[in-house]
Amino acid sequence: MLSAIAFSLLAGTAAAVTPASLQSPGFDTGIFPNTTYSGAIDPSAAAGAKFGQKSDPFYPSPWMTPGVMGWEDAYIKAKAFVSQLTLTEKINLTTGVGWEGEQCVGQVGSIPRLGFRSLCMQDSPVGVRDTDFNSVFSSGQTVAATFDRQLLYARGYAMGREHKGKGVTVQLGPVAGPIGRSPEGGRNWEGFSPDPYLTGVGIAETIKGIQDAGVIACAKHYIGNEQEHFRQVGEAEGYGWNISDAISSNLDDVTLHELYLWPFADAVRAGVGSIMCSYNQINNSYGCQNSKLLNNILKDELGFQGFVMSDWQAQHSGVSSALAGLDMTMPGDTVFNSGLSFWGTNLTLAVLNGTVPAWRVDDMAMRIMAAYFKVGLTLHEPPINFDSWTLDTYGPLHASIGANIQQVNWHVDVRGDHANLIREIGGKATVLLKNVNNTLPLSKPKFVAIIGEDAGPNLAGPNGCSDRGCDNGTLGMAWGSGTANFPYLITPDSALQAQAIADGTIYQSIFDNYATSSIQALVSQADVTAIVFVNADSGEGYINVDGNEGDRNNLTLWHSGDDLIKNVSSWCSNTIVVIHSTGPTLVTDWYDSENVTAILWAGVPGQESGNSITDVLYGKVNPAARTPFTWGPTRESYGTDLLYEPNNGNGPPQNDFLEGVFIDYRSFDKQNIKPIYEFGFGLSYTTFEYSNLVVTQVNAPKYTPTRGKTAAAPTFGSFSTNLKDYLFPSDSFPHIWQYIYPYLNSTDPNVASADPDYGEKPSQFLPPNATDGSPQPLLRAGGAPGGNPGLYDVLYTVTASIKNSGSLPGEEVPQLYLSLGGPDDPKVVLRGFDRLSIQPGQTVTFSADLQRRDLSNWDPVAQDWVVTSHTKTVYVGPSSRNLPLSQTLSN
Ligand SMILES: *[C@@H]1O[C@H](CO)[C@@H](O)[C@H](O)[C@H]1NC(C)=O
Ligand SMILES: *[C@@H]1O[C@H](CO)[C@@H](O)[C@H](O)[C@H]1NC(C)=O
Ligand SMILES: *[C@@H]1O[C@H](CO)[C@@H](O)[C@H](O)[C@H]1NC(C)=O
Ligand SMILES: *[C@@H]1O[C@H](CO)[C@@H](O)[C@H](O)[C@H]1NC(C)=O
Ligand SMILES: *[C@@H]1O[C@H](CO)[C@@H](O)[C@H](O)[C@H]1NC(C)=O
Ligand SMILES: *[C@@H]1O[C@H](CO)[C@@H](O)[C@H](O)[C@H]1NC(C)=O
Ligand SMILES: *[C@@H]1O[C@H](CO)[C@@H](O)[C@H](O)[C@H]1NC(C)=O
Ligand SMILES: *[C@@H]1O[C@H](CO)[C@@H](O)[C@H](O)[C@H]1NC(C)=O
Ligand SMILES: *[C@@H]1O[C@H](CO)[C@@H](O)[C@H](O)[C@H]1NC(C)=O
Repeated sequence: MLSAIAFSLLAGTAAAVTPASLQSPGFDTGIFPNTTYSGAIDPSAAAGAKFGQKSDPFYPSPWMTPGVMGWEDAYIKAKAFVSQLTLTEKINLTTGVGWEGEQCVGQVGSIPRLGFRSLCMQDSPVGVRDTDFNSVFSSGQTVAATFDRQLLYARGYAMGREHKGKGVTVQLGPVAGPIGRSPEGGRNWEGFSPDPYLTGVGIAETIKGIQDAGVIACAKHYIGNEQEHFRQVGEAEGYGWNISDAISSNLDDVTLHELYLWPFADAVRAGVGSIMCSYNQINNSYGCQNSKLLNNILKDELGFQGFVMSDWQAQHSGVSSALAGLDMTMPGDTVFNSGLSFWGTNLTLAVLNGTVPAWRVDDMAMRIMAAYFKVGLTLHEPPINFDSWTLDTYGPLHASIGANIQQVNWHVDVRGDHANLIREIGGKATVLLKNVNNTLPLSKPKFVAIIGEDAGPNLAGPNGCSDRGCDNGTLGMAWGSGTANFPYLITPDSALQAQAIADGTIYQSIFDNYATSSIQALVSQADVTAIVFVNADSGEGYINVDGNEGDRNNLTLWHSGDDLIKNVSSWCSNTIVVIHSTGPTLVTDWYDSENVTAILWAGVPGQESGNSITDVLYGKVNPAARTPFTWGPTRESYGTDLLYEPNNGNGPPQNDFLEGVFIDYRSFDKQNIKPIYEFGFGLSYTTFEYSNLVVTQVNAPKYTPTRGKTAAAPTFGSFSTNLKDYLFPSDSFPHIWQYIYPYLNSTDPNVASADPDYGEKPSQFLPPNATDGSPQPLLRAGGAPGGNPGLYDVLYTVTASIKNSGSLPGEEVPQLYLSLGGPDDPKVVLRGFDRLSIQPGQTVTFSADLQRRDLSNWDPVAQDWVVTSHTKTVYVGPSSRNLPLSQTLSN
């Protein structure tokens, strides 16, 4: 569980301004044994990715700007509602009722006086978690491979509809953290791609879809949440490590802006209603109380108008997190089922004793309700019709105490016709990596042999392992809280068998990867097409599968998949390989074998897995997907890796992002290492030709740094300062055990807070300006959701002609890359793409806009984006290393 320090209101507060005597161990400058580091490959990295790096303070916490585009109506409604609320009612909106206190994975308090039911927060990024009669969609990483905006949106919308149908208020996704700094990262599959542009498009389209369906999206996990190891002290202790605090992701300002923050800017610009702060520390300050990242970057610079929610138990302080920009604590208790909270009673007290200004709590309530109204939610939403803690129809209303048995599940079928969409995405996301001499598509083959556990069922059923915490049978989903229950799982075997029988094909399968002699006997027969299914799994850190504590221990295939492929291909000259995985695997040993005639990556495709792969193998879908990450020859070739052992004694492990912006293809380009399959690569059953690049400069307005000041912090309504008015309503109030309330037990605040440190004077620990509600200067890079609106002005339009030069109708994904031209810039960065349907012989026009941000670098001195004077070059082609068209930009 959490260490003692986690209970301190002081832990991690803007360390730079905290008097030394009050700093928690681990935040003192100089206590780190090692302040030098080696191996820096980029000057920008040296600017901040240091062992023991500090995070600058930034106060006060920016209050809402109600008039910004897209939020006007929402804030009018929020004001009308919040103005009616009492202090305890506002605090109810901000504080979860405790772990398993209600039906959803997280719920805040309700407002019975106004008939307002509590907000329901529910996982997950692939479907509604912990219920029944829901769909399971492909992972974010899988749908990213479609490079198809419409499909990204459609998936978000369909998932949103399902959450809405269950009574969910906030769907806890999509994910841009992890972005995928290292391929071993356990939760990379929940996000989209290590490329920030692709992830930015993915997260924005998904958010629009979810929110158009009437549910608040939650962009997570903000930020630098790039590995499972050491993300939480309690979890690390469970694995035998003794650390005082969670891992710190240490990164510099340029890397933050140009890589990790980029997709979150797109999320904010897309109007996302909530953002989840992460477990890890960033520059040695916890994600949910990091004033630099929450106040300065997210709320001020990016102009985020929604609310910041903590990850579950990621809050480590009361006053400090409130002033650093946190708006909602989840699930509300300090540690699960402690019955105690950093907020609830404590937040009421903190307002009454003047430590947290009333405007800050008003701002929390306004942000929560504005997000609520923005997506079209009303004050009288239908009740929640499911229960996360049981699939039984009847169960305890408050699972944490087990009492009060009543109907908790109505088993509402919310799947609609989403199966078709899931099947379509699975096919359109399957990347064809190799296809020798038109091995594929298959056409009534004489004899198909399916080899591998990954083609078949989990003998314990598709949901046989809790939160999918095993790798048995075909990999349709990875593990952790980002999962949902399968309604069914079409295995590759069942779908391929149906196709084979319809075709009159001989069809036999062997699921036992170790049945070597049977496999040899089968695939050695005449005219066999062998299809080998293999996988590599990963997930969230609280589950350990085969020694993988969330993160992958290696990049090789599981269940001896590489040996299986080598064996089969040594006996069968037509061996097709299908990989299901949560990221790249090492294919080095066998990919270029002459007997391996085709290779496909199918990601983790969700419930329609078998149908999707059958569509591709038999040519009902002509593949066009592109790999959303690089396939390197060795683990080391990536140039980044995870921290698997603490490197700071018992202090917080220090994860220095020394590589700066150079992850994935940017790293391979910089190191000049040839990948096996480069980012953006993927084949088709037809062929395409690129020609006629035209770059047109657009007459855009000049960039204007934002100037001026905000209004003063608004407050809504008044409140009594008499502690008597905040006691539990009556002696007969039905006080639920372990439940978090906004009320006091005693008019003695020391007793009510139950905090031995209660009463410390704000001046003893509050950073300067933390409670200042006077007008504040605007940031030049800010001014609207997503940052300065001028960043999104179109400066150039790029077009190219794409011809289908083959004989089959197909789809092509032209990609636009840009060289920013500076000595510290990546060779090229993705800045545009589309997915186009093209008939044989037809030529279509690819068109992409270059916005000012696309052409800019972050200037850490100016604290703004600048278009440098370095020569910039536009490239267009079918992958990051196949760029036949290029043109230099004129100024
Ligand atoms: C400092 O870091 C270097 C490089 O990582 C390492 O070799 C050395 O052992 C460290 N020194 C201490 C005192 O931890
Ligand atoms: C706060 O929420 C709890 C739980 O829903 C409810 O019992 C209580 O009455 C609410 N308090 C106020 C002041 O609305
Ligand atoms: C108030 O917060 C402190 C930690 O800051 C905690 O120890 C205490 O239990 C909390 N009180 C209540 C009533 O939840
Ligand atoms: C105000 O209340 C908060 C929350 O209980 C507490 O941490 C803080 O010590 C109190 N400060 C004063 C000056 O009473
Ligand atoms: C492809 O087919 C041609 C013609 O049948 C043959 O010469 C060539 O060796 C084949 N290539 C591979 C890699 O099998
Ligand atoms: C499923 O996988 C686990 C290991 O994760 C293994 O112990 C178990 O035997 C497997 N179950 C079946 C039915 O294969
Ligand atoms: C990589 O990890 C998987 C899953 O734990 C395991 O099956 C495999 O043996 C490991 N590979 C190597 C080379 O250790
Ligand atoms: C390819 O398969 C044939 C059997 O069809 C086998 O004789 C040959 O050794 C295999 N080649 C390789 C490189 O494994
Ligand atoms: C407040 O009183 C209730 C009811 O007696 C009790 O269950 C709860 O533990 C008390 N809370 C604190 C922080 O003392």
